Amino acid sequence: MEYKKRIIITGGAGFIGSHVVRRFVNNYPMYHIINLDKLTYAGNLANLKDIEDKPNYTFVKADICDFPKIMELMKTYQVDGIIHLAAESHVDRSIKDPFTFAQTNVLGTLSLLQAAKNYWESLSERYEGKRFYHISTDEVYGALDFDDTLFTESTKYDPHSPYSASKASSDHFVRAFHDTYGMPTIVTNCSNNYGPYQFPEKLIPLFINNIRHRKPLPVYGKGENVRDWLFVEDHARAIDTIFHHGKVAETYNIGGFNEWKNIDIIKVLIKTTDRLLGRPEGADDDLITFVTDRKGHDLRYAIDSTKLKKELGWEPSLQFEEGIEKTVQWYLDNQEWMDNVTSGDYQKYYEEMYQNR
Ligand code: NAD
Ligand code: DAU
Repeated sequence: MEYKKRIIITGGAGFIGSHVVRRFVNNYPMYHIINLDKLTYAGNLANLKDIEDKPNYTFVKADICDFPKIMELMKTYQVDGIIHLAAESHVDRSIKDPFTFAQTNVLGTLSLLQAAKNYWESLSERYEGKRFYHISTDEVYGALDFDDTLFTESTKYDPHSPYSASKASSDHFVRAFHDTYGMPTIVTNCSNNYGPYQFPEKLIPLFINNIRHRKPLPVYGKGENVRDWLFVEDHARAIDTIFHHGKVAETYNIGGFNEWKNIDIIKVLIKTTDRLLGRPEGADDDLITFVTDRKGHDLRYAIDSTKLKKELGWEPSLQFEEGIEKTVQWYLDNQEWMDNVTSGDYQKYYEEMYQNR
């Protein structure tokens, strides 16, 4: 079949990437979707079981830092779009091991950019109809005080953690490839995502699983830090809208206008999980355990996504209460997924899948 577009989605076996891959594979049978993922600890092909046999889907195990391999894939699949999500994404890991973050997030992004540039510039149509879409984070803007106004697209970059510094650096490289070579790039900066398939090192899945098993809930500092939460499928829908209708060289903020103090969200998680498990209200409040704060812990993130609403008509579709209920229910219904991830068994899935073909 002659596909209308051939798109590499990097990091498609991760949390947000798997929702983006599923959406594109299902909604665009006329596109060939190539999921390029290294399958680090955060990559899990079981996240995509429901679409892995679709004819317009291909999985390639590769490292974005492997420039010759990316060049080869660009040519083999005649790629005309890249949606780049692959990254090291956990702030606590970046504090322990910043080198891996610079390697993947900065050099990996540069390797993709250079491969796209070399391939697209070798074609007669060059950059026409091409798109390099880089997925970034609100953390590049630094931290807000309680009375500061929200992050807009013109907020100055001020990253604090090795994770956010590496993401900021990659954003600059993407914009530099537009300004220097004319590559049609787009950058989006999104707030905290939650929903199914998130690796249980992040607050929401970790705490749901701990509540279920009556394990302590390690709250950093006093639990007063604020995050702006967005349901992951709303982010995937924003990425779809922006990939198709966003303006080249623009930045769009994506957020939920949904700020929560950690301690308040933790109370909602306890209440919801207990209710869905049929436990009496308040049964697990004593699991809350205040622990030493994260180093350099940003106080508050909050995104102003007015531009995206005004220009492209996107806004979050799900009320937070509904999203949290759906999310807690999903983790409770998918204990096998959680057990595979926490035991490390999911990493055997790829080997078995390929042995059986
Ligand atoms: P994740 O950690 O769940 O998944 C990352 C994926 O990238 C994994 O599948 C992993 O195997 C893959 N990967 C890592 N290194 C790779 C490499 N060198 N080559 C190829 N693949 C590699 O991450 P996530 O939470 O889904 O985040 C996805 C993207 O969205 C990241 O760029 C992150 O910075 C950004 N983001 C995340 C959030 C959030 O709340 N999770 C919010 C805003 C932006
Ligand atoms: O803002 C977008 C970012 O959101 C993304 O770019 C990152 O990839 C993503 O990991 C997320 O970063 P956070 O650091 O905000 O997410 P995390 O789930 O790690 O933590 C959320 C808040 O909860 C934060 O204030 C730290 C706190 N926390 C986290 C954990 C894991 C705790 O208090 N205890 C914990 O055990």
